[in-house]
Amino acid sequence: MADNKEIETTGHKWDDEEGYPLTEYNNPLPKWWLYSYYATIIFAVVYWVLYPAWPTPNGFTKGILGWTQYGQLKEEMEEGQKARKVFEEKLSSLTSQEISQDSQLLQFAISGGKTIFGDNCAPCHGNSGIGSKVGGFPTLVDDDWLFGGTLENITTTIKYGRKGQMPAHLEANGGSFSQAQVSDLTQYALSLSGRASDNAAVTRGDELYHGEASCNSCHGDHGKGSLIGKADGEPIDNSIGAPNLSDAIWLYGSDPATVEASIAKGRTGEMPSWAEDSDRAGRKLNDLAIKQVSIYVHSLGGGQ
Ligand code: HEC
Ligand code: HEC
Repeated sequence: MADNKEIETTGHKWDDEEGYPLTEYNNPLPKWWLYSYYATIIFAVVYWVLYPAWPTPNGFTKGILGWTQYGQLKEEMEEGQKARKVFEEKLSSLTSQEISQDSQLLQFAISGGKTIFGDNCAPCHGNSGIGSKVGGFPTLVDDDWLFGGTLENITTTIKYGRKGQMPAHLEANGGSFSQAQVSDLTQYALSLSGRASDNAAVTRGDELYHGEASCNSCHGDHGKGSLIGKADGEPIDNSIGAPNLSDAIWLYGSDPATVEASIAKGRTGEMPSWAEDSDRAGRKLNDLAIKQVSIYVHSLGGGQ
């Protein structure tokens, strides 16, 4: 309030008994405040006319623009879907190799593949593809492959599935070897990764491995596995999926008891088939989804 100015009053006065007049000052609102206030009123009226605003007995006033939140969402979704379609059409028509040369397409394929992986593969292979020894689900993030790490190998694995057939060796489990022989084979298997504890057993196991038990026909002469190993100098069928026994990566576990259990009882890990024309019952994936999830797996770090 300005001090020097004559004080404006509304003219309304009360006289109190001691002679002090009580007057009502006129203290108007600041102009800026008043104009902003009018502006909000105008804004509100314009808004009511243009946009949905007031409830009515059978709904609400629609506004002359015809805008709705749902409509906007739909429009945005349609735009997103259009962009998606363009990408999906490209993904369908290009080969995986071609896709991997286009960084934007590659990103799109990987992010789609990641979702597909989470929905279908993570229960066995873990959320980020790290695998699990309980159940023998291989990790997909390293460069140690059972069936090969090229995009083509990975796609074939996913489409048609894989089945590891490690026979049981102990007599009691339907094999043809005694407990002593299985122990010797275990010592030899451990020696391949430098962890044997009984040299005499290793020598006996070595003979069985390359002889009567012919483990080398699947795992290779030096235990390198069916993918990179050789049997009697010859390449091994890549679709056998016999793991490398000479490295630190194990499907079921590296401790002697687990290795012995693998040899005694055998193992039959199964990767389901996902192609729509495969005869497995259950969830299938179309070609585009298989392509995306293959590219995703290939991107996890171990792709070749
Ligand atoms: C029911 C469990 C299960 C599900 C679900 C599953 N897998 Fe597998 N997967 C396996 C097993 C077990 C193996 C190993 C097969 C073997 O031991 O011979 C495997 C192997 C693989 C391999 C080969 C790894 C290598 O070293 O060569 C790839 C790649 C793979 N799975 C990808 C996928 C993808 C992608 C999905 C989802 C579409 C999927 N898997 C879903 C169990 C599963
Ligand atoms: C017919 C081919 C074949 C023969 C023969 C074979 N294996 Fe295997 N072996 C496999 C396959 C395939 C697997 C993986 C099983 C799976 O995927 O579930 C495997 C798994 C193993 C494992 C588990 C490896 C891990 O990472 O956990 C050990 C240990 C093993 N074999 C040792 C042997 C020994 C020792 C012999 C000989 C006594 C032998 N295998 C004979 C195919 C074979």
